[in-house]
Amino acid sequence: MNRREFIRSFVVTAALVATAAAGFVELGGLAEKNQNGSNTISLIQQTTSQSIAGSTNTVSSSQLGSSVSTPTGYVLLAPLADLTGKTFAYFTHPTFGSSILVNTGGVWKAFSSTCTHRPCTVQYQSSAVYCPCHGGTFSPVDGSVTGGPPPTPLPEYSVLIQNNNVYVGNTVIN
Ligand code: FES
Repeated sequence: MNRREFIRSFVVTAALVATAAAGFVELGGLAEKNQNGSNTISLIQQTTSQSIAGSTNTVSSSQLGSSVSTPTGYVLLAPLADLTGKTFAYFTHPTFGSSILVNTGGVWKAFSSTCTHRPCTVQYQSSAVYCPCHGGTFSPVDGSVTGGPPPTPLPEYSVLIQNNNVYVGNTVIN
């Protein structure tokens, strides 16, 4: 290889290396875009799963029609059909906030879902209202404390089933 051939070979090799390096940088950019895309997809999936969870055990008054007259002292919560097959459902009471409906022996009861020991959301399992934070338990019949550290019963609202709708009282009854 003479001097001219060597220089030509060096220039071609340098150009190839530069092209490959540019491609690598671009691939790096694509990887970053894909990673961001994955994060976005995860957020959508997380939102979707939250929606699915919400549709399982959450009822919302926004699902209701506006033509139903509400009995005095109550707020319209949901069509009774929304509770079919459920043993409990979380809802937001318009006055008292986070709340839970529980079905005890075929009778729907409504309570605040915030534990009276600390601001922890109670659950309904095996026919008992249960606080996962420190093991407090409440009666699903009247919200009274049946075990653990909670100092007072869960505030209860009356429940009225009428015209195939579920209503909850707008006052605390105990
Ligand atoms: S927060 Fe419910 S038992 Fe402590």
